[in-house]
Amino acid sequence: QKAQPTIFVIFGGTGDLNSRKLAPAIYNLFLEKSLPADFAVIGTGRTKLSDEEFRKSLYEGINEFSRRGKTDKKDWEQFCGHIHYQIADLLKESSYAELKKNIEQLQAEWAQEAQVIYYLAVAPNFFPVIARNIAQHQLAENSDNSRIVIEKPFGHDLESARELNALLGELFEEKQIYRIDHYLGKETVQNIMAFRFANSMFEPLWNRNYIEHVQISVTERLGVGDRGGYYEGSGALRDMVQNHLLQLLCLVAMETPTNFGAEEIRNRKVDVLHAMRRFSAEEVRMNTVRGQYGQGWIEGKEVPGYRDETGVDPESNTETFAAVKFFIDNWRWQGIPFYVRTGKRLHQTASTITIQFKDVPHFIFPPETTETWQQNRLIISIQPEMSIRMQLQAKRPGLEMVLNTVDMVFDYKGTYTVEAPEAYETLLLDTMDGDQTLFMRADQVEAAWDLLMPILHAWESKRSLSFPNYSADSWGPEVAEALIARDGFHWFTLP
Ligand code: BG6
Repeated sequence: QKAQPTIFVIFGGTGDLNSRKLAPAIYNLFLEKSLPADFAVIGTGRTKLSDEEFRKSLYEGINEFSRRGKTDKKDWEQFCGHIHYQIADLLKESSYAELKKNIEQLQAEWAQEAQVIYYLAVAPNFFPVIARNIAQHQLAENSDNSRIVIEKPFGHDLESARELNALLGELFEEKQIYRIDHYLGKETVQNIMAFRFANSMFEPLWNRNYIEHVQISVTERLGVGDRGGYYEGSGALRDMVQNHLLQLLCLVAMETPTNFGAEEIRNRKVDVLHAMRRFSAEEVRMNTVRGQYGQGWIEGKEVPGYRDETGVDPESNTETFAAVKFFIDNWRWQGIPFYVRTGKRLHQTASTITIQFKDVPHFIFPPETTETWQQNRLIISIQPEMSIRMQLQAKRPGLEMVLNTVDMVFDYKGTYTVEAPEAYETLLLDTMDGDQTLFMRADQVEAAWDLLMPILHAWESKRSLSFPNYSADSWGPEVAEALIARDGFHWFTLP
């Protein structure tokens, strides 16, 4: 069932996020016939552009970044008519008055009330002023029909996240507020819930009695590129762990929800964050590692170190790598470490969750029968490989008993012929449908910040670091290996 007439207002229409992610996602939804006949996009920006020029810039973005590749001319022409541009200074009231007129005009043309989705694809310092103006100009009066989507970063720390939540809470109802964590829209991430809760065979094993440890690893080959200015004030812990990695952890660790409702699921996830151990300064020292990349070579090309990137302080102590050993203090997970790591300019781009099971209680085979040995592992590959594999011991064919490790693999490519939608397609459609399951509730965001504050404080208080401490194309600082090796494990990497 298609949604009612819809207007997307994209603040930051000329920005990177719109051209790389939002416009391609809306275009794909259009091609999938998931949009209503009456829909419009109003992009705003400071640059003076005609509708035509704006459309052209989106066309280029879609050709470059859409999963479907080059656009068909006929499709594009049909789509184009739905795209509008408004030059706007977001600090000026008159921009919002004009926006109101533009929205009213579209509704008049359609002779119907439309739902309006305000997407804040702008720097976070604009969030409050835009939110206030939307409310003041009565652009979101009907709470059933208007929504506001907030991009990350949602706050810089617990205090600023609380302030922003308080402001949004004053201006809108919680059901209107969509805090994006685009990882939750990824197909493989959504599948974690299906995998855990639509199968009966995993749940009995999914606890401290059978699982030895869990690893969540999101490594990237790219550096900060042209985002140095933003990243410098953020770092890996804020940029990735506070949101994406902790959300993955919640999906692995949460209790079984009693239904598939947004509130129920978000309650179970926030339970995990509340049960996670807050570190003392000494525990921060024991359980965390940070790093910053130096210069190196990637595919035969020299790449600069972080301190030499544009917009970055040449003496910067911002971390581009973070690893943390977390604990969840509840019955299910007591004593089981959850190792998470993320970093830029690493050897491989891969997001994986590895669940390692405990060893067999008694090993009956003579030592010489073992060719390769690995405790059972379940590996959920989120991207770029999309698969779930179980690593098992098996007998190699032959006259003798020889054990080796084999993989049982469910991979998307071999199983499905349909292409997975992009995260933003799913999330935009959910916004239109009023489904908040895959969005962050106020308390989730705050609980995640609360958990990280002791780490941020401890890191900030010790500023003289021997950065850079890993070179581009490596697996991060050596201390990150030590963090996990100390417990007798090692970071899992895909072959
Ligand atoms: C963003 C971070 O939220 O996620 C970026 O700000 C990071 O620094 C990106 O590169 C990774 O997302 P994806 O979907 O490419 O894994």
